[in-house]
Amino acid sequence: MDRRVFRDSAKAVLAEAYPCRSCKLAHALAGEPLLTLGALAELAAVLPADSIEYNPGALPIGIAPEDIPASGLGVVETIRNIRESGSWVVLKRIEQSGAYAALLERILGELAEVVTPRTGEMMRREGFIFISSPDAVTPFHFDPEHNILLQLTGTKTMTIFPADDEAISPPGVHEAFHMGEHHRNLQWREPFAERGTAFAIGPGEAIHVPVKSPHWVRVGPDPSISLSITWRSRWSYAEADARAFNRALRKFGLTPRSPRPFPARNLGKALAWRALSRARTALRSKSD
Ligand SMILES: [Fe+2]
Repeated sequence: MDRRVFRDSAKAVLAEAYPCRSCKLAHALAGEPLLTLGALAELAAVLPADSIEYNPGALPIGIAPEDIPASGLGVVETIRNIRESGSWVVLKRIEQSGAYAALLERILGELAEVVTPRTGEMMRREGFIFISSPDAVTPFHFDPEHNILLQLTGTKTMTIFPADDEAISPPGVHEAFHMGEHHRNLQWREPFAERGTAFAIGPGEAIHVPVKSPHWVRVGPDPSISLSITWRSRWSYAEADARAFNRALRKFGLTPRSPRPFPARNLGKALAWRALSRARTALRSKSD
């Protein structure tokens, strides 16, 4: 039996787009037993608390005070009641569970022949699962990882914006994000809307989301389960470190040029930042 998640045609589409452009891909992961609501409730029960983020949902308007649960719904109940609970759940770094680590490695392994020649070894491989009630919205934000989002159940629409549009994500925001001073959420302004591309996906479809491409998501009329497979690369790390170095230059009153898009490696600034960070660490440990 052919267990491949991505066929050659999907890999050819990704090869055209990766790493800079978003695109839609076909996948064959629908029906995967590890990605049913029941299996995910079991996964949530064993993941450490700091690997789970969830909103237990609004209580019914007419609930009697004595019926209000002491601490709201737990994450397992929230997942089991996802159709009604007006909630969203993110299970982070699913590779902490052996079966999910194997699943992640299997899928990423299929993509290595596309990714490695372009951005090198796939580093820091991590998987995230999003379980959402109907109509849930994920606010406008960007992420530092290479990402492919595979839709398993229900539908969602992700609207993606170019990573290099500095009117949408100004250099100062990138720099503050990499210094841990800015949340990944971005400020939304209505004129941005026409610059985005909306990708509607259902089971059997996936989206490639480039590093730092701003996006927001709306779930369709049914509960949604999606798997996000992510990795970093020497190129994405260099972009991040070049941003951090620009932050240091700005503190000296300079106006540095933004990192250049792929295939530029931005290694000069990245190496300068790493040297500066090492020097700071050495100075700090001397004064301890
Ligand atoms: Fe995201």
